[in-house]
Amino acid sequence: MQSTTEKRETQLALTWQCPSNIAIVKYWGKRENQIPCNSSLSLTLSNSYTEVKLALQKKETVSPVELDYFFEGQKNEKFSERVAKYMQDNARFFPFLTDYAVRIDSENSFPHSAGIASSASAFGAIALSLYEATYRLENKELDQEFYHVASNLARLGSGSASRSMFANWAEWGKNTLIPGSSDEFAIPVTEIHANFSNMYDAILIVEDEPKKVSSSAGHSLMNNHQYADQRFLQANERTARLAEVLKNGDYAEFIHIAESEALTLHAMMMTSVDYYLLMKPGTLLAIERLLEYRRETGIPVCFTLDAGPNVHVLYPEQYKDKVESFIMNDLQDTYKKVIFDKQGTGPVSVK
Ligand code: PMV
Repeated sequence: MQSTTEKRETQLALTWQCPSNIAIVKYWGKRENQIPCNSSLSLTLSNSYTEVKLALQKKETVSPVELDYFFEGQKNEKFSERVAKYMQDNARFFPFLTDYAVRIDSENSFPHSAGIASSASAFGAIALSLYEATYRLENKELDQEFYHVASNLARLGSGSASRSMFANWAEWGKNTLIPGSSDEFAIPVTEIHANFSNMYDAILIVEDEPKKVSSSAGHSLMNNHQYADQRFLQANERTARLAEVLKNGDYAEFIHIAESEALTLHAMMMTSVDYYLLMKPGTLLAIERLLEYRRETGIPVCFTLDAGPNVHVLYPEQYKDKVESFIMNDLQDTYKKVIFDKQGTGPVSVK
């Protein structure tokens, strides 16, 4: 499946930047074909993104997928295999793959060792780039349908990537209380109270080593998890509830959902048959101090976690200065570095 595209002339080149996102209600557990076991709802970020440069070169003969994949200038065989398989499995969406060899150059805006999950932004950018190539080769202008299909294609690479296609808040997964929701693609959540229309996320990098248990392995541990059914019900209820909270501006309820979701996600890991633990001492210290700070100040700041030890501190813009000085002064010994991010406007096609 691999080849060298360096010698051939480039026929089409395009670039996408796709942001990462942080789930408030977590997707944890999937069925075949990347169908989620429950719905989830996330905030699209701004500064943490992957940039993908895609170049197509005409092949001399019609052949299966040919891909050269570079991550930050280096060949990355493991991820390259995953992307080549993704292209092969979804070749019906990318008919040009029989005639063109593909070169992908991918870079993250965040440091390589930041330990923040990058598959959402990486697969988001890859899906957008490959799908835009089909539009460009057919001389079509990008439309709403483009993002809708791109979300489906991103999901097939990495479930959480489906939500990165949209600005601000996005929901993914069929939920009977959310009109238009689907297991196959995410949808934007657009009815947002002023309290939640300018959210910040400071990512405390507690540990920058690669994860010991991949999220695919984590998802599969939900297959025979004794609490799975209850957990999927809870997540669906919370997704619908959170959509309401985002409309009505209830900070207390938002905080409750966000923090309980983070702890429940980790509780699922700790109570699976092959149990494991991703939190570190710095994770717990940061959480305890943050809870104390909120009790003392009444500022609506809260935490969430993804599948790792890093702590995402969430706060509305009006408390930015106070919370950021708390992070710099009082949490400093709990993390190695901090990435200040905030909600963002979604993917960007770089011209
Ligand atoms: O998209 P994946 O397979 O990397 O899974 C992401 C899982 C969490 O980040 C823990 C939760 C989520 O909804 O993003």
